[in-house]
Amino acid sequence: MQPKDRIIFPLDLPTSSEALGFVRLLKDHVGVFKIGLELFVAEGPAIVEAVKKEAPNAKIFLDMKFHDIPETVRRAQRAATNLGVDFITVHCDGGAELLYAAATEAGSAKVLGITVLTSTGADELAAAGLRPDLCDPKQLVLHRAALAKKTGLSGVVCSGLEVAAIKEKFASELITVTPGIRLLTNDVKSDDQKRIVTPTQAVQNGADYIVIGRPIRDAPDPALIATKIALEIKNANTP
Ligand code: C5P
Repeated sequence: MQPKDRIIFPLDLPTSSEALGFVRLLKDHVGVFKIGLELFVAEGPAIVEAVKKEAPNAKIFLDMKFHDIPETVRRAQRAATNLGVDFITVHCDGGAELLYAAATEAGSAKVLGITVLTSTGADELAAAGLRPDLCDPKQLVLHRAALAKKTGLSGVVCSGLEVAAIKEKFASELITVTPGIRLLTNDVKSDDQKRIVTPTQAVQNGADYIVIGRPIRDAPDPALIATKIALEIKNANTP
């Protein structure tokens, strides 16, 4: 993989035309476009085809974060697989049967388990009623990564603060995708992400892919920022 191939850009936009504008701008600078709830709910499966047509060399990440009874997830996963996407997400806190159901319908898509959202901190975990020993995000992420591995998922989504522990335990057995990336030049305290790291820290900690949205989307020159991030990834890998 080239450094740019490890950048996942989320198309967190309300319409197809705005999303495709960013695809045109960034298709030579990032490797993966992520279609999330906002865009998919607004535009439906046609957006997957439209992104593929605009950027045939890019991978497509359908970030539906499935969370339902196993049979519903199995059927939804089959529908997603039929769209010909490369990555799809399910929530690990839905339990082993849900994850297994998604894995069995994966086809050539890679199913990634959401461990703990990067916008969630220890306080929210305690408030949600988790066992005290699992209110430490790192312990909970490791617990859920083990479940992802056991049920046949290809990888996990976790913050850059936990990715080193996952790589230490599972090495290349699980692909790691890390959102919550902020650049040193950004005002990192101004949004909802809590467990954040820089691209360099994420890659040095072992992230295979990084998800980076607002720092690119809201920049005056998104392509330039993406190029700088790719360079940062390249340099992070150079001892
Ligand atoms: O870089 P930025 O915070 O804008 O990226 C937000 C994107 O990352 C959203 O599409 C969100 O769904 C995704 N994401 C996340 N935390 C996770 C998984 C995905 O923020 N644990």
